[in-house]
Amino acid sequence: MKYLIEGGNRLSGSIPVSGSKNAVLPILAATIITGKKTILHNCPDISDVRCTIDILRHLGYGVERQNDTLIVDSTCEGTPQVPPELMRKLRSSIIFLGAFINRFGSAKISYPGGCELGKRPIDIHLAVLSEMGVQIQEDAQHILCDAPRLKGGEYRLSFPSVGATENVMIASLIADCPVTVKNPAKEPEIVELQNFLNAAGANILGAGTDTIQIIPQKTFHDCEYTVCSDRIEAATYMFSAAATGSVLTLTNAPLRDLNRITATLEEMGVYIITKRPDTLTVIPPKRLKPLNLIATMPHPGFPTDAQAILMASLLKADGTSMIVENIFENRYNHVSEFLKMGAEISVSGNTATIRGVNHLQGTTVYAKDLRAGAALVIAALSARGTTVIHDVHHISRGYENMIGKLQAVGAKARIVSDTEPNTMEFRQILPNETTFHSLTQ
Ligand code: EPZ
Repeated sequence: MKYLIEGGNRLSGSIPVSGSKNAVLPILAATIITGKKTILHNCPDISDVRCTIDILRHLGYGVERQNDTLIVDSTCEGTPQVPPELMRKLRSSIIFLGAFINRFGSAKISYPGGCELGKRPIDIHLAVLSEMGVQIQEDAQHILCDAPRLKGGEYRLSFPSVGATENVMIASLIADCPVTVKNPAKEPEIVELQNFLNAAGANILGAGTDTIQIIPQKTFHDCEYTVCSDRIEAATYMFSAAATGSVLTLTNAPLRDLNRITATLEEMGVYIITKRPDTLTVIPPKRLKPLNLIATMPHPGFPTDAQAILMASLLKADGTSMIVENIFENRYNHVSEFLKMGAEISVSGNTATIRGVNHLQGTTVYAKDLRAGAALVIAALSARGTTVIHDVHHISRGYENMIGKLQAVGAKARIVSDTEPNTMEFRQILPNETTFHSLTQ
């Protein structure tokens, strides 16, 4: 599949933000440990969630989708065997490690595999779990963990890894005494995992701060939980508004998780008006101001997942900007594609210098990873002429109905199969028409 986007149009109207991919994935893994029924609302229908559902079903658990609600039943024993190809399909499959150790006392999982962002090592996960008493063996393909018992106590992460924090939180619930985690990740998705586990009967405190305390808990109850909205999806549409000079409103937006994004856009000359607890309106200037220097950092710093979409909005800013990517070693996959559109960017090490140009030109580009793909959509919307974006399966990993949402605010955008010609007659995807998701079932 590919996207065809005709740029240069002002957008207007409102976009609903879907549930958070990076919150729902660890929560779905954590449903394994409750042995009960979980009702999860605000779950986006994206391919990473579909992969996770496939893994849960493969384990023997029931999962049913009713619109944006998922009902997971993990009452049966389940079998901790997941085919490697299924685990490798999902970048974040490592999040099942803590859940397997908790539920089954052991785990045999294939290496999550690197991805376009780099090696994606799991040394921090394994270092803490092994300190807690998990016996770990590794062979060429698998990680074998055996946890006859887990020692409580105080553990410090060498780096505030999001996934490692989530795995330790879930595994710690079977420790022989309370666990204190120092230097954990503080992302909103960590708070979401704590809140979900507590809704199911756990007693965890401190998520979002420098210290998380987990009281061991082995029995849980049925629970119903509403997942927070996706702060990176929200940021994507905020930067789309800024890059196209459009006034856009976002509904169901996670305002409390957008402080850094809002502050950055305001530095660029954008006004953000919040109306109700979950609604904001973006009002951009005629031309965006550049950013002298912005560096991605662990939360509450500027999120690495918003780096590519920020860069897309700086391509036509009124001056030169500098971005430093501190989290992933290879997160400039979008630069080569922006250059094809006429952007002026130079990269040295983890620093990108962007000299604002007056125009971008639509052309054929390739999505190299999830957020790089989303950034190409933003550049295409703000370019002259038509852009064809290939390999959009990367985008559908994390964005629910992106083209449908953009069409609804006036974007001239279509999803077509790779074999279809790049014809530009645009038509709205009618409600009863095939949407991207059903095409990729
Ligand atoms: C989560 O990935 C997110 N994914 C990522 O979002 C996000 O970019 C990342 O956190 C940082 O915020 C999900 O939540 C599913 P990390 P995760 O462990 O947990 C290194 C997206 O676009 N590291 O905090 O894998 C690692 O290589 C995705 O939605 C080790 O060296 O991130 C990276 O450089 C992309 N050893 C840095 O730490 C380890 O054991 C941050 O990784 C673990 C991580």
